[in-house]
Amino acid sequence: MAATPATNTDTPVLILGGGLMGLAIAHALARGGRAVEVLSRRRSEAAGFVAAGMLAPHAEGLSGALLQLGQRSLERIPGWVAQIEADSGLSCGLRPCGIVVPFATAAERDVYPTAPWGEALDRDGLERELPGIGPGWQAGLLFRQDGQIDNRRQLMRALERACVELGVRFQEGVEVLELLHNNHQLTGVRVRDAAAHVETLQTEAAVLCSGAWSAQLLPELPVFPVKGQMLSLQGPREALQRVIFGPGTYLVPREDGLLVVGATSEREAGFTEGLTPFGQRQLQAGIEALLPEASQWPPMERWWGFRPCTPDEGPLLGASPLNGLQLAAGHHRNGVLLAAITAELLSANLSPEGCNPDQQALLELFRWDRFGG
Ligand code: GLY
Repeated sequence: MAATPATNTDTPVLILGGGLMGLAIAHALARGGRAVEVLSRRRSEAAGFVAAGMLAPHAEGLSGALLQLGQRSLERIPGWVAQIEADSGLSCGLRPCGIVVPFATAAERDVYPTAPWGEALDRDGLERELPGIGPGWQAGLLFRQDGQIDNRRQLMRALERACVELGVRFQEGVEVLELLHNNHQLTGVRVRDAAAHVETLQTEAAVLCSGAWSAQLLPELPVFPVKGQMLSLQGPREALQRVIFGPGTYLVPREDGLLVVGATSEREAGFTEGLTPFGQRQLQAGIEALLPEASQWPPMERWWGFRPCTPDEGPLLGASPLNGLQLAAGHHRNGVLLAAITAELLSANLSPEGCNPDQQALLELFRWDRFGG
């Protein structure tokens, strides 16, 4: 059932960043009746529009606390998507299609960190699951529980609509220049709007979800960009049913045959924009190795973006160095997967009741200051 719009007139929670995390948290808060305002600099740079939309804690080979967080989020995704779809009236494009990780040898397959959660495939099994797979792969792991969502074309739009329906206010083209505080208590943010007008918005409750740019506002945060280049091809509908997650390249087939191909992982690139011949050749070589026939499919789009990475590649969630400022940043390769649990944890943490012990334990695992030194 769709939630009713927030009617309270409290000072809104400010969401600093209009990407996937910002929208997901705004949506969860608004569902709980909170007044929310989202400040967004440039929609197109949000990693939520760049990612391939894999829901892949097992295919990504996660381990430890990050695997636990990813599995928790994966469990919640059907319910989370149903809420967004009910609130927006739009489909999110969830596709529980399973993901296959191919390997050159069975020995490599058997030592994959998440092998216990997968179904072991031999060459015949690979050909059955992925007709047309390249000849270099002799073994595989099928993770039926992993899947994908059409983040670029559907999820982001549905979330935005759901937020609007619930009364969330948006300020587009607004850049947060500075976090203002008094004795480590957040007091406001200084912003510049699209007309270069600078003003201060007072607030004692905000969530920093500025993706790869988060450390520009709070230099203590160990968040840095990892550039990814991507492309898409138009394949025949149903040519590929499952995602193929190869080393260095993955192929994500949408319902209509669009094949999303990712992604380079460029730590040295910093915030350097643009496509590079080297990056594009790497993706072409990956396509050729994984699904040779796809090399002939017509190209559709090419794009790039910046993953927000941290030293252990896990997100920063909850408390920050400033009282009143919560964090939801640094989701690196797993932002789409982790959006559901991030929204749950942050909205609970901002509610009058606070988190339950289980949620609190998860937030502790992803504190911003866990790195020591
Ligand atoms: N989630 C895959 C990537 O970041 O490339």
